[in-house]
Amino acid sequence: MYRKNSYALTESVAFITGALGQIGREIVMRFLEDGAFVYIADKGKKISDDLAKKLKRAKFDNYRYVTIDVTSEESIRAVYRKLTRPVDVLVNCAGIGVYTSFESRTSDELDTVYAVNLKGTILCSKIFSAGMMKRKGGRIINIGSIYGITTPDFSMYGDSGRNSSEIYGATKAGIIQTTKYLAAYLAPHNILVNCVSPGGVFNRQKSFFVRRYKKRTPLQRMAAPDDLTGVIAFLASDEAAYITGQNIAVDGGFTIW
Ligand SMILES: NC(=O)c1ccc[n+]([C@@H]2O[C@H](COP(=O)([O-])OP(=O)(O)OC[C@H]3O[C@@H](n4cnc5c(N)ncnc54)[C@H](O)[C@@H]3O)[C@@H](O)[C@H]2O)c1
Repeated sequence: MYRKNSYALTESVAFITGALGQIGREIVMRFLEDGAFVYIADKGKKISDDLAKKLKRAKFDNYRYVTIDVTSEESIRAVYRKLTRPVDVLVNCAGIGVYTSFESRTSDELDTVYAVNLKGTILCSKIFSAGMMKRKGGRIINIGSIYGITTPDFSMYGDSGRNSSEIYGATKAGIIQTTKYLAAYLAPHNILVNCVSPGGVFNRQKSFFVRRYKKRTPLQRMAAPDDLTGVIAFLASDEAAYITGQNIAVDGGFTIW
């Protein structure tokens, strides 16, 4: 077991997209634990019951839920205009995959995965960085993937139905590249842009897949959402003031082989 550090985010207002998802909601909890005010942003009309309960149990009320569609510039702008607090930290966590075969790939699937993962990340970054520029500083933390760095070993997936697609990896590689571009572009405004690339997070996948995934991973296990949140909080904190344009793989060593 490790001891959890705490990063001082008490002065920070964070906006987290995809915040109702498996990883997003853990980022929400972590940022609240570290003292931030959090805009919980996802496409659902309201916050999910399970996250609402978790927040209540932890006695957190330093947040607001907002409905957003990151594929729509209009939706992002409408949400942005209504925010009552200026955002210091944007976490682009909304993301989707597609799990059908390459042979059956449709044009719609390509457009949809691109729109959420890459277009959404770029549009949110554009709109939120405008405010950060005015305040002369901010952080953007993108969520990539091991499959933006390397490519799936298909034998690991078998007929699990969870095989990662070419468009998913392409958009995640695009996010890593966009991180570097925006880090350079926004550096004069003291806006730091980094990417965290998670390895596969355990989510009750089929046991043969989990077995093969562990074997393929130096640390011999899948990720837990908690494995990711510390580095994201760190990148949002003052302690990361000299880090920009980086992609940090949090993957148990998956991408070193
Ligand atoms: N889970 C993993 O193993 C894993 C591994 C590597 C990278 N990632 C990345 O981490 C991020 C979070 O993944 P997750 O596992 O929590 O996924 P998830 O499916 O549990 O959550 C994704 C969230 O994004 C939201 N979303 C989808 N489309 C949206 C839109 N148009 N506008 C706003 N929100 C939208 C969904 O409603 C959902 O709540 C994604 O970018 C994913 O690609 C996940």
